[in-house]
Amino acid sequence: MPENNIVFEQLSNHHKEIDLFEIINKDTLEAYRIKYIGTKNILKELFGEIKNVPNERKKEFGQAVNALKLAAEEKFQTYKAQFEEDTNDQKEVIDLTLPGDNFPLGARHPISIVKNKIIDIFKKIGFTIAEDREIEDDWHNFTALNMPEDHPARDMQDTFFVQVNPDVVLRTHTSSVQVRIMENQKPPIRILSPGRVYRNETISARAHCFFHQVEGLYIDENVSFADLKQTLDYFSKEMFGDGIKIKMRPSYFPFTEPSAEVDVTCFLCDGKGCNVCKHTGWVEILGCGMVDPAVLENCGIDSKKYSGFAFGMGVERITMLKYQVNDLRLFSENDVRFLKQFSGI
Ligand code: PHE
Repeated sequence: MPENNIVFEQLSNHHKEIDLFEIINKDTLEAYRIKYIGTKNILKELFGEIKNVPNERKKEFGQAVNALKLAAEEKFQTYKAQFEEDTNDQKEVIDLTLPGDNFPLGARHPISIVKNKIIDIFKKIGFTIAEDREIEDDWHNFTALNMPEDHPARDMQDTFFVQVNPDVVLRTHTSSVQVRIMENQKPPIRILSPGRVYRNETISARAHCFFHQVEGLYIDENVSFADLKQTLDYFSKEMFGDGIKIKMRPSYFPFTEPSAEVDVTCFLCDGKGCNVCKHTGWVEILGCGMVDPAVLENCGIDSKKYSGFAFGMGVERITMLKYQVNDLRLFSENDVRFLKQFSGI
C-alpha cells in the first residue's frame, strides 16, 4: 500500500509541475513539449507503474494518469495557439494608409521599340523570325550571296575580321541568316531576320561600327517584283502612316537582280520639303530586290521552280527618321536622359 501511495503522489507532483511550468516564449514551449508531450515524455513512465497498483485502484489510477496527460496537452495547445496568434499578428501589422513604394520603371530602348514595331508589321502577313550568330564565316556573309573573294562589292561593307583567319568575320548584314535558312529549309520561306551587324566605319553622327538591321526574305513559286512592291507599300503605310507613298529607284546589290532602293514620302513635311528630307520630299528607308538565281542555287534551291524577294533596312535609320534623332551615337551612349524620352509607337 505505501508503494501505491508513492505512485499517486508522483502523479500529483507531476500535476503541480505541469501547472507551475512557465511557458514564456517559443523556446520554453518547446522544452515543455519535449518533457510532457513528445515521444519520450516523462509521463510515459507513469503508465508503466500501473502494474504496482492494486486491482481495486487500477481504474482510478488509469483515469488519473489520463487526466494528467490531457491537462499537459491542453496547456501545450493553449500556449501554442497563443504564440501562433502572436506571430500572425506581427505579420499582419500593415498600415494600409501608408503611401506605396514607387519603383522607377525603365523605358524600352528606342531601337527595340522600332525593331519590335517592324517585326509586328511583318508578322501580320505571315513572316516568322529567324535569328542566328553574329560571328560568321565568309561563305554565309559573302560568298553564298554572290560576292566571291575579290568581288568589288565586298569593299562596300568594311568588314571586321575576328581572327587572323580571314574566314571568320563579324557579320556585316543579317543576310547571312537568310543564307542559313535557305540552306536548311524548303520553300515556301517567309522570314524576317533582325539583329546587330558590324562594319568598320569611323564613328560619327551618321555612321557607327555596329548597328541593327531587319532583313526579310520571301521565296515561293511565282513570287514577282509586284509582290515585293506591294509588301513594302503595306509596310510603309503601317510604319509611317496611311498617306505614305513609296518610290523605288534602281540600285545594285550583288545578291538581288533587279535591285532597288526604296524612298517614302517624307512623313515630317508630308512631301513638301524639309531639313530631314533635304527638301526633296522623299527619304530613303531600305534596299531590296529579287533574289539572284545564283544565290538560290548556292543555297540548294531550284531557281527554275522558285523565285523570291529580299529587303533590308537599318533600324537606326528608321528610328532617326521616326523620332527625329540627329546623332546616331546617342543610341549607344546609354544616357538615361536621352533613353527615357521614348515610349511605344
Ligand atoms: N544586305 C543589304 C545590306 O546590308 C541590304 C539588302 C538586303 C539589300 C536584301 C537588298 C536585299 O546592305
